[in-house]
Amino acid sequence: MAKIVIFGATSAIAYETAKCFANKKSEILLLGRDMIKLDILAADLRAHSPKAIIKTGHFDALEMKEHEAVFDSALAELGSIDAALIAFGSLPDEKATEKNISLLQHEYTTNATAVISIASVVANYFEEQNAGTLAVISSVAGDRGRQSNYIYGSAKAAVSAFLQGLRNRFGKTPVKIITIKPGMVDTPMTAHLKKGLLFASARTVGEGIFDAMTRGKEIVYLPGYWRLVMFIVKHIPESIFKKLSL
Ligand SMILES: NC(=O)c1ccc[n+]([C@@H]2O[C@H](COP(=O)([O-])OP(=O)(O)OC[C@H]3O[C@@H](n4cnc5c(N)ncnc54)[C@H](OP(=O)(O)O)[C@@H]3O)[C@@H](O)[C@H]2O)c1
Repeated sequence: MAKIVIFGATSAIAYETAKCFANKKSEILLLGRDMIKLDILAADLRAHSPKAIIKTGHFDALEMKEHEAVFDSALAELGSIDAALIAFGSLPDEKATEKNISLLQHEYTTNATAVISIASVVANYFEEQNAGTLAVISSVAGDRGRQSNYIYGSAKAAVSAFLQGLRNRFGKTPVKIITIKPGMVDTPMTAHLKKGLLFASARTVGEGIFDAMTRGKEIVYLPGYWRLVMFIVKHIPESIFKKLSL
């Protein structure tokens, strides 16, 4: 039975991935900062897949001094860990964040520093174990800075580059490092945005993450058409790009 830990397990996308692992009778530890929400999700997963083992625990990404202790407790709870998904994040109001530097620091900490910190704790454990799959939800927003969301986007770019380095560090080992790059997904994070054709459901993306984790893929755009969209976006010359309203 695979043993999985999810950081930021109340995420709508992460929940869909957890459902897939639960279907495979996995042992899943859901970690998040809202224990009431986690208990509801855990009850739902148990009802959905009675043979899965679902556990919960407290994790606030911003309490970075606690990251190693939280991981140690997770390890004690599960005995060993085969895979981890880092899913937490927040989508800031770009204009408000540009003007409010403490908000900017807060958002950057959530979306970059805290992710890199807990990813490092997990990676060091997988190195010792010489096995494990670490998947982290970055974003297509990290592929190119745009005026409408470059604070969030550059934090995700930091995460993507960090994961690229980790993948290189583990390149000759069985440890898998997976960068997940969703496009726009219909979740509470984007509830305030008008939904267009490019929006995917949390289920599509969550199932894509499960597929990537079980197959040990490396850089995954979800849905897949974002790979082509971002290829085009990345290749627009800067002299033209800087004048676009994106
Ligand atoms: N939705 C999109 O369009 C989209 C696109 C690309 C990438 N992503 C990324 O996908 C991931 C999941 O987002 P989602 O779309 O599923 O949105 P979501 O349902 O709003 O999930 C965001 C999650 O982050 C958690 N979180 C935020 N700050 C935290 C903290 N300090 N400690 C612990 N947990 C914290 C939230 O916990 P609470 O429940 O306690 O608030 C929530 O579970 C994020 O990394 C996001 O950046 C989303």
